Formats: sequence, structure tokens, C-alpha cells
Amino acid sequence: MSLKVEAIKPAVGAIVHVDRSQILGKAVARKCLELIERHGVVVFPRAGLDNEEQKIFTDNLGASVSFTSNAPGSGDKSGGYNITLDPKINNEPEYVQGTFFWHLDGMPMANIAPPKASVLSCRRKSATGGQTEFASTFAAYDALSEEDKAEYGRLTVVHSLVAGVREVKAFDELQPHMRTRKAERPLVWTYPSGRKALLIGYTADEVVGWPKAEGRALFARLLEWAAQPAFSYRHQWQEGDLVVWDNCGALHRVIPYSKDSGRLMHRTSVAGAELAA
Ligand SMILES: [Fe+2]
Repeated sequence: MSLKVEAIKPAVGAIVHVDRSQILGKAVARKCLELIERHGVVVFPRAGLDNEEQKIFTDNLGASVSFTSNAPGSGDKSGGYNITLDPKINNEPEYVQGTFFWHLDGMPMANIAPPKASVLSCRRKSATGGQTEFASTFAAYDALSEEDKAEYGRLTVVHSLVAGVREVKAFDELQPHMRTRKAERPLVWTYPSGRKALLIGYTADEVVGWPKAEGRALFARLLEWAAQPAFSYRHQWQEGDLVVWDNCGALHRVIPYSKDSGRLMHRTSVAGAELAA
């Protein structure tokens, strides 16, 4: 396998150059898993995978998981999720508009472990907006003081879908099953390798045992910390680009784009595993 890796910034992001004929091989998948844990997000420029090929690529990374089967504008037979604001395909755009705000996928889903990785392909890009930004929660954790690391390591956070879409959808406008969707997660997520990441984002609703306002203030500070330029990267999509990120190691959000932009993305997800205590 011939593969060249080019770091984007020291703390976040890498571009992977690999021959198109090798991208669906197991060796590339192994390397990709190593790279997302190191760099948070990796870009395969103009990979040009179709839905079936993206499924093969995703399956090589681990068991796939679909946590958006109930979401409007949802999936297809390959288990992927088509992300669009086109009203002909998606009649409830608020769930996609929720992605205008920093988040980690799957956080409010109590019945699943946080997904391991997300895989996103650009089918059609928007002429304006539509770039995806990433902020490394690995880098954000690593740069904390030892005192903060120790304190945050003891905290548990409630993530809710209500909090995740609060900027675009009022509570009483949500479908009833969406109103109760929440899960408790540790603020500091530890990998088998010892790598640690902060589980934050707009879905973070409160710190267990803290007054709500104090928890929200902490989340706001940590989001700003994680999104500082040294820890974040904005991807300017080209059609066919494939971007893979460690779902707990990289917050993401999209720069707003319009319903008639034609933007169409295809996302697949790799299941995570709860860690032994
Ligand atoms: Fe997302």
C-alpha cells in the first residue's frame, strides 16, 4: 500500500493521499483508524466513492450503526444517511439545521455507545456556505491544566436532543419521542489507548449534580476553548471528497447554507464500544 499523510495543523487534521484502487482495502482502513485517533479528522480528497463503496469503506472500519433511522430526510438501503435541506427530500429541515451548531453525533442516544467514527462524502456542494468545521476535543483536553483534567474527569453530563436543536426548534414543536431523548456521558472520554477527549457540544444540557446555569457556562467555555484556531479546521468541500473523523475526538458543525443550494452529503457511522470500567 502506498499512502502519503500530510498534517493540516499540528493539533488537528490530516490529508491522506492513496491510490483509488486501494481505498477499499483493509490496510487503508487500519491506517485510517490510527490516523483519526491521532489527528481527529482525515480527508481523502476527491475519493469519489458511491453509496455502496462508502458502505464497504465504513464496514472496514468496524461495525456500522444507524442512529438516524427516525430522522426526517433519512436513510437509504445502504444504511447511510442523506443530508440535505431540499424540501422535496426533507420536510423537517430543523434536524439538519441543528448541525449548524457544534456537536458530536449520537450523544443523546442512551441505547448506543457514542459512535466511533463518522464518514461523510460530498455529493453536491453548495455555492455558498456548506463547509464543515471540526474542533479537536483531543487537543482541547490535552491542553487543559492538570487541575482541570482532574476536576472534569469526575463529571457526568446529560446530553439531550432538546438541547441539541434548541436554536432551531422549540420544545413543544418537537415530535414527542424526540423530547425525551437523552443520555448521560462522562465529560472526559477515555480510549483503550489512554487517549482522552471532552464530550461536549450543543447536546450537552447539564452537569449532573450542578445547577443548570453553571453547567451551561462550563460547556460554553469548553466549546470556545475547543474551537480556537489551533485546534480547529474548516473543510472546503469538493465533490467526491471523503472525510472521516473520530466522533468523540472532533466536534463538527456546518456553515449555514440555503434550502435551494443543492447541497447533498452522504453519511455513514461506525459503532463505538463502551469501555470497561
Ligand atoms: Fe453531525
